[in-house]
Amino acid sequence: MIKLATVFSGIGAIEQAFLKLGIDHEIVFACDNGERNINLDVDAIKKEIAGLSYKKQKEYIDEIYESRCKKENKMECSYLANYNLSKDHFYQDVRFLNAKQYLGKVDLIVGGSPCQSFSIIGKRAGLKDIRGTLFYDYARIIDECKPKAFIYENVKGLLSHDKGNTWKVVNDVFLSLGYNVKFYELNSKDFNIPQDRRRIFLVGTLKENTLPNKIEKQELKTTMFDFLENNVAAKYYLKERGFTFVTTNKRARVNSKIISTQKANQQFNWNGDFVFESVEELKDRPDVLTTAYIGEYNGELGVVRKLTPRECLRLMGFSDSFKIVVDDVELYRQAGNSIVVNVLEKILTLLIQNKLI
Ligand SMILES: C[S@@+](CC[C@H](N)C(=O)[O-])C[C@H]1O[C@@H](n2cnc3c(N)ncnc32)[C@H](O)[C@@H]1O
Repeated sequence: MIKLATVFSGIGAIEQAFLKLGIDHEIVFACDNGERNINLDVDAIKKEIAGLSYKKQKEYIDEIYESRCKKENKMECSYLANYNLSKDHFYQDVRFLNAKQYLGKVDLIVGGSPCQSFSIIGKRAGLKDIRGTLFYDYARIIDECKPKAFIYENVKGLLSHDKGNTWKVVNDVFLSLGYNVKFYELNSKDFNIPQDRRRIFLVGTLKENTLPNKIEKQELKTTMFDFLENNVAAKYYLKERGFTFVTTNKRARVNSKIISTQKANQQFNWNGDFVFESVEELKDRPDVLTTAYIGEYNGELGVVRKLTPRECLRLMGFSDSFKIVVDDVELYRQAGNSIVVNVLEKILTLLIQNKLI
């Protein structure tokens, strides 16, 4: 039985990898603030909770989030609906998660700190940015619970940020924890998911790191069309403004075999991947043909629709047994923020084959 923990857990990409591979595991703890970024005096709160028991520390932080946030933690809703973990071990904020209580109780920990601050499209404030420092908390948590292995995931922009200085710091911090670290740059389209999503991964092990220096690519045997649902609800089809934008603007792509990187907010600015369906294909769907805009695309009359939340999940490697318990707006965000499960399946398999966890 492998004992798993995650921080910045989101909708649990590594948890999905365990389920898909049928690997016996137990989730020890998870942590996500549901993107509810409230202004907190972190040092003052840390002082306040220092003398409390672990249980009371958690209750204190839960109470702050509950009283200060108008919206509930939707990430927690998705997580707890899908994975076997008691609320007592779901934390709201990595900055206050004291992982000493889990020392020796975790085999593998996985986390990808929020990428906004590192991303090449972000403000480039990097380590000075408050969110940029969250990876320090990830490193601290690793140090406190000392898992056999950790995986750190992030966007590729982290490598070039601040002329490579940020990456050097990140690397140094992980190395200073005494782990043997391997670096990979992996694209989901090389793991049989038709999405062009390039991400970097650090995999650290306490034992000698016998993982390969390069992870072998798998042949892409699917296209986006293999991931589409039948009978998609009429609400996902675009009206005239959306149709015109999507079929004329380069930021949107229609009927690509390999989709571009799914992003948290792409569904709201027509900036991503769309599906064109001809009028002929939809002749049994009067609900669509009477509500959507019918226009011409590549010489054919038809309609354009967004990817559905389920399709977005599929294109992130999530199986259809993943329960959707939040609204569309939230689900698109959650899927776009996640890690492609198939890539983690590969890393997880290698860790197990090499007896590193
Ligand atoms: C890039 S996403 C990671 C998603 C995750 N890897 C998955 O499989 O879905 C980063 C996550 O960090 C969370 N987050 C941001 N600040 C946090 C904090 N202070 N404590 C805990 N989680 C935080 C966000 O809510 C978001 O879900």
